[in-house]
Amino acid sequence: MKWQTAITNINNGQEIIRGKKLSGLIKTNTFTETIFLIWQGRMPKSAEIKMMDALLVAAIDHGTGTASAMAARIVASAKNSMHTSLAAGILAMGERHGSAIETAAKFFIENKNNKNLAQTVKELKDKKVRLAGFGHAVLSKDERSTELFKMAKKLGFYKDCCIVAQATEKELNKISSKPLPLNIDGAMGAILADMGFDPKMMKGVFITARVPGLVAHIFEEIQNDAGLRRLGEDEIEYIGK
Ligand SMILES: CC(C)(COP(=O)(O)OP(=O)(O)OC[C@H]1O[C@@H](n2cnc3c(N)ncnc32)[C@H](O)[C@@H]1OP(=O)(O)O)[C@@H](O)C(=O)NCCC(=O)NCCS
Repeated sequence: MKWQTAITNINNGQEIIRGKKLSGLIKTNTFTETIFLIWQGRMPKSAEIKMMDALLVAAIDHGTGTASAMAARIVASAKNSMHTSLAAGILAMGERHGSAIETAAKFFIENKNNKNLAQTVKELKDKKVRLAGFGHAVLSKDERSTELFKMAKKLGFYKDCCIVAQATEKELNKISSKPLPLNIDGAMGAILADMGFDPKMMKGVFITARVPGLVAHIFEEIQNDAGLRRLGEDEIEYIGK
């Protein structure tokens, strides 16, 4: 069975990516433009470049305390290589951190025309379902989302999914015991959906944005070489026999 691809072709030493010569892209294109080209199969318009750049910047890092940065640094502290530590960081992402984007986008797409959104949100909350893209361990307001939505409005990407995302935030916060801001996964999911991205690709977008941040954490850990990270005994409670 042949492996068919519409992405790349290397012929007579010349590489073609989505119909464009790589040698030409090197000379004229930014990384963000080329990312968009390889993902979407066409060159981005200027508004798309600006929006994609902003999305990638917004998710570049969120501190040492995040599951992915902690995992990457712990693995680096055990004297593993950059790529092993990076893999650990990426694998630490899950539905609660870094990977809520796909589920969030699917919810926004499915509820674009929902006239009973308030009821839907209440039913989910009553069933103790955590809505993907909402809530944050340390933030009661997520400025990254606010800035991204401002930019989406300016650039023409604030459409149905962004509207339903912000309406869901409003409804959820009416019935929640604590503030549940629309977080970076939710904002990115809504904007990318309004830009026409398939939710199945979105975790890849988030990981692409976060990898430079993880590389910085791992390199710092390797450079500082502060020793093996482990839990202090005071943080461990034995509850067995
Ligand atoms: C991010 C997250 C893990 C932070 O959790 P937390 O701040 O530690 O929240 P807690 O686990 O203390 O929950 C506090 C209350 O808020 C509720 N809650 C938290 N996030 C919720 C969400 N997304 N939807 C509905 N309710 C939520 C909890 O059910 C709990 O309610 P209760 O007090 O009635 O039992 C959590 O908000 C979540 O799971 N969000 C969805 C996944 C997501 O978007 N992750 C990306 C984060 S950038």
